[in-house]
Amino acid sequence: MASLRSFLRALRSGQKASGIESIIPPEIKNDGFYAAILELASTVEARHILEIGSSSGQGSTDAFARGIALNPARPQLHCMEISKTRFAALRDHYAGNPQVKVYNASSVPAEELPSAEEVAAFYRAHTTKLNEYPLEQVLAWLEADRAYMSGSAIPDGIRHIQSQAGVGQFDLVLIDGSEFTGEPELERVHGAAWILLDDVNAHKNFRNYRRLREDPAYRLVREDWQVRNGFAIFQRV
Ligand SMILES: C[S@@+](CC[C@H](N)C(=O)[O-])C[C@H]1O[C@@H](n2cnc3c(N)ncnc32)[C@H](O)[C@@H]1O
Repeated sequence: MASLRSFLRALRSGQKASGIESIIPPEIKNDGFYAAILELASTVEARHILEIGSSSGQGSTDAFARGIALNPARPQLHCMEISKTRFAALRDHYAGNPQVKVYNASSVPAEELPSAEEVAAFYRAHTTKLNEYPLEQVLAWLEADRAYMSGSAIPDGIRHIQSQAGVGQFDLVLIDGSEFTGEPELERVHGAAWILLDDVNAHKNFRNYRRLREDPAYRLVREDWQVRNGFAIFQRV
């Protein structure tokens, strides 16, 4: 029973129980984070928005796409998704939308993933939603990500999009990709006017949340630790 529950939870959270090649249900959907993304995307003076972890495009991507359609600044949304299956669904869904560009890429190279020892040390030092799963399971997800990222045709996706689209700095970024790449992703996008973090109560954005809270260049605009694994919104000051 317990293992069935954790399998279902893993399935809902997009983890590897079902494999990265399966389509998963939208996560940021009809909650406070979805509403905040929609509002920001429709009002910020932005030219380039980056979404890391688009899945098949029905969750946060949907909020962004609806928002930018209303935004007089007509921002461009750049969507990044590593899974080939989810990417195919994402690409097909937004094929007719010139404001949305999609990339089948890994945000950062596999070499920038943490080691198993680092993830185990994090797991023991901090009680987050990750501790609802056995450490062995978490480490298996890490190694599955390492293997899949190593095979990505575009291994350094954030930099790839920057050079392809001629973007120096993104105006707004959502970090919601792999559970284990949040830190090198923030390293690349730090300086964006808006940084949105999902899963602040997990490995993905736990340290990023603390980093931005202590960063005099950013202010915390909104957070809610009760919505799924928690989210936070930071604005550059
Ligand atoms: C938590 S889900 C995203 C949920 C989505 N934002 C939503 O609201 O439904 C994380 C996604 O990031 C993708 N992903 C994992 N590692 C990645 C990487 N290195 N680069 C880009 N995407 C990655 C996964 O395939 C997965 O679809």
